[in-house]
Amino acid sequence: MQEQLKSMEAEALARLAEVQDLTALEEWRTGYLGRKGRLAQILRGLGQLPPEARPAAGQAANEVKRRLEAAFEARRGALEEAATAAAFRAEQVDVTLPGRPPALGRLHLSTQTLRETSAIFAHMGFEAYETPEVETDELNFQALNIPPHHPARDMWSTFYTDREGVVLRTHTSPGQVRLMRERYPAEIRAILPGKVYRYEQVSARYEFQLHQVEGLAVGRNIHMSDLKGVLVAFAQQMFQGMRRWRFRGSYFPFTEPSFEMDIECVLCGGGGCRVCKYSGWVEILGAGMVHPVVLQNGGYDPAAYSGFAFGMGTERITMLKYGIDDIRYFFSNNPRFLEQFG
Ligand code: PHE
Repeated sequence: MQEQLKSMEAEALARLAEVQDLTALEEWRTGYLGRKGRLAQILRGLGQLPPEARPAAGQAANEVKRRLEAAFEARRGALEEAATAAAFRAEQVDVTLPGRPPALGRLHLSTQTLRETSAIFAHMGFEAYETPEVETDELNFQALNIPPHHPARDMWSTFYTDREGVVLRTHTSPGQVRLMRERYPAEIRAILPGKVYRYEQVSARYEFQLHQVEGLAVGRNIHMSDLKGVLVAFAQQMFQGMRRWRFRGSYFPFTEPSFEMDIECVLCGGGGCRVCKYSGWVEILGAGMVHPVVLQNGGYDPAAYSGFAFGMGTERITMLKYGIDDIRYFFSNNPRFLEQFG
């Protein structure tokens, strides 16, 4: 029997060395160590041995069993380790790869300029006040000294609506009258930022929608010099490095006198380019002293009060600041344009 055990053990160990996975290993275990396995078969012969030979044979069988079990455990350990290592290799990630940054939104370029404008005026004591985009003809025109038949209406291409007397505001100026009516008799220092609409053939220079920032100061001792000082202080902060500016007489029905402010073209430094139409100057805003009729429409006595007002186009300011040559970029929502700013 010892001979049988010996050859069985040698065979079992040889097979075990060939086992490559846990399923084969389990088959090996039942084949040699299971209840109907090779060892059990050999042990069934124990009863046929003479009684004196049985203890030695039994002991030998136990030793073979212990060695095979130990070999089995060792093989299982090795196979499990290999399986784990293979799984790790398969699921491996390169933790040194740079992450995918989440796409961060940003403020629209117009909003950035609006906020910058508000911040500059806030430092000079101007509050920001918003008024409706859908406006009455009365406030958009009549209260601003532009009667229905007046040729000055041609200065604004207007979206009239089906509702009699209701328009999309063509400028932020109607906010002047709203604010005056709300605040009388208090003094006013305010900017009125917001969107305005014009019935326009859209081109590189004209949009049917744009933003404006209106400015209004009303008080007892307000002069043209105050207006000029405020506008120059604004332009110097908005256009860093601006060297020259000029005020050019103009006409608006709601200011008297009226003027427009030009700055030296920031793109060519005044030498002349496409943006300034080779003049070296670009217009940035309209302004003037609030017309007595408008003060009156706002509830203020023009004999006791005076005021100044100005209005600027936010997209136009932004185009000059960043050298953008087409206003349509602002509302076409192309991320490749918008992502360049902020
Ligand atoms: N509302 C004028 C425009 O839209 C600008 C302006 C505002 C001019 C205030 C003078 C005073 O063109």
